[in-house]
Amino acid sequence: MSNDKLNKTYFIATYGCQMNEEDSEKLSGMLKRFGYTRTEERDTADIIIFNTCCVRENAENKVFGNLGAIKKLKEKNPNLIIAICGCMMQQIGMADKVLKTFPFVDIIFGTHNAYKFPEYLTRVQTEGVQIKEILDKETEIVEGIPIDRESSVKAFVTIMYGCNNFCTYCIVPYVRGRERSRKSEDIINEIKDLVSKGYKEITILGQNVNSYGKGLEEDINFAKLLRKINEVEGLERLRFMTSHPKDLTEEVIYAIRDCDKICEQIHLPVQSGSDRLLKVMNRHYDRERYLYLIDLIKKEIPDVTITTDIIVGFPGETEEDFQDTLDLVDKVKYDSAFMFIYSRRNNTPADKMENQIPDDIKHERFNRLVDLVNKNIAISNKNYEGTVQEVLVEGVSKNDESKLSGRTRNGKLVNFEGSMDSIGKLVNVEINRAQPFSLVGKQID
Ligand code: 5AD
Ligand code: SF4
Repeated sequence: MSNDKLNKTYFIATYGCQMNEEDSEKLSGMLKRFGYTRTEERDTADIIIFNTCCVRENAENKVFGNLGAIKKLKEKNPNLIIAICGCMMQQIGMADKVLKTFPFVDIIFGTHNAYKFPEYLTRVQTEGVQIKEILDKETEIVEGIPIDRESSVKAFVTIMYGCNNFCTYCIVPYVRGRERSRKSEDIINEIKDLVSKGYKEITILGQNVNSYGKGLEEDINFAKLLRKINEVEGLERLRFMTSHPKDLTEEVIYAIRDCDKICEQIHLPVQSGSDRLLKVMNRHYDRERYLYLIDLIKKEIPDVTITTDIIVGFPGETEEDFQDTLDLVDKVKYDSAFMFIYSRRNNTPADKMENQIPDDIKHERFNRLVDLVNKNIAISNKNYEGTVQEVLVEGVSKNDESKLSGRTRNGKLVNFEGSMDSIGKLVNVEINRAQPFSLVGKQID
């Protein structure tokens, strides 16, 4: 490690999902190991990294906007290194498009070769070259990359990469490659290490965690992995995402019910309540199967919260299809929902469908859906008033520095009066008031 590197700083802008967050934590971990310091001040950083997302068009537009804005930084400081990586770069032709519009970018790489970032950086610094390297196929899983985690209380651990599902609207399988699972031993060792460093809560991640284990030599599946992780001593809470309804088994639901560390929360993206659209989306379940799973989850797991993803305005969506979505949403009564306006993605089957929905109809339906979801969340939150909840204290509240903030086991956000030395601990909080998206209370012990 040379001394001149020690004072150098880097700034990372991360777009998109938790997978990208975790990739950024790895980029940060590698840079720290090389002696760089992280900064939140983009305009004075020595290295600026954009870790991009392409799941919807607005995520891409944000990156283009920000790249335009940093052009002047590079003009002022020619030593500034600008790197772009992540899903957006993995799309065919995108890296060239970016280089044509923003020729001052130094390094471009994709989702399969992020572990090579230190090598690219060294080459740019020593040889003064511009690097563009996108691998079109996934590589073997690379273990042991240092991770610089955002929180010291809760951590994300990826258990599998990629997706094989090819939902017709989605670009992820094209930019993240096929499903590959990590060996359970590597996952357990990482979690044990985190617990020994004081982490209390782990969220295990994958595009479709329910198909974990396929292709591994060991005798394992997702339910068995959950039970194994539950045995890690010192771990307090275990969460997971994302579950695909077509692969969620009863065995997994029973594992959640039986294991004391698995939190009572399940994210189960439905995407649409219309059987006709679910078929065209290539989802491989219908509303009956989905609602069966919801009933079983609610029956087996007391106090469970259910969250989801929903797309509005998929090609060909009629008012009747949309009513089916509203009807399903009202039956399930989600505790939170990520709602998206359908966004056309290059080279996906849905992009080629002729019956695209006009923007004004998409927006009008979106607003109706948001109203219904929010109404149900408010009703659900009201039920917590007067109860005592176990909260893992994550830190000081974002909106009010005199308060603490954390989540209940089932994922409800709680802002509360409490003692500052509780950060990182599990405490009991009496809930006095429900707000639209959070609960307010007071620590009792
Ligand atoms: N348009 C809108 N939303 C999308 N999603 C994925 N692809 C698209 C798209 N083309 C949503 C899905 C998925 C979530 C991560 O993003 O709801 O579950
Ligand atoms: Fe995309 Fe479907 Fe895979 Fe989820 S399961 S990442 S929505 S293709």
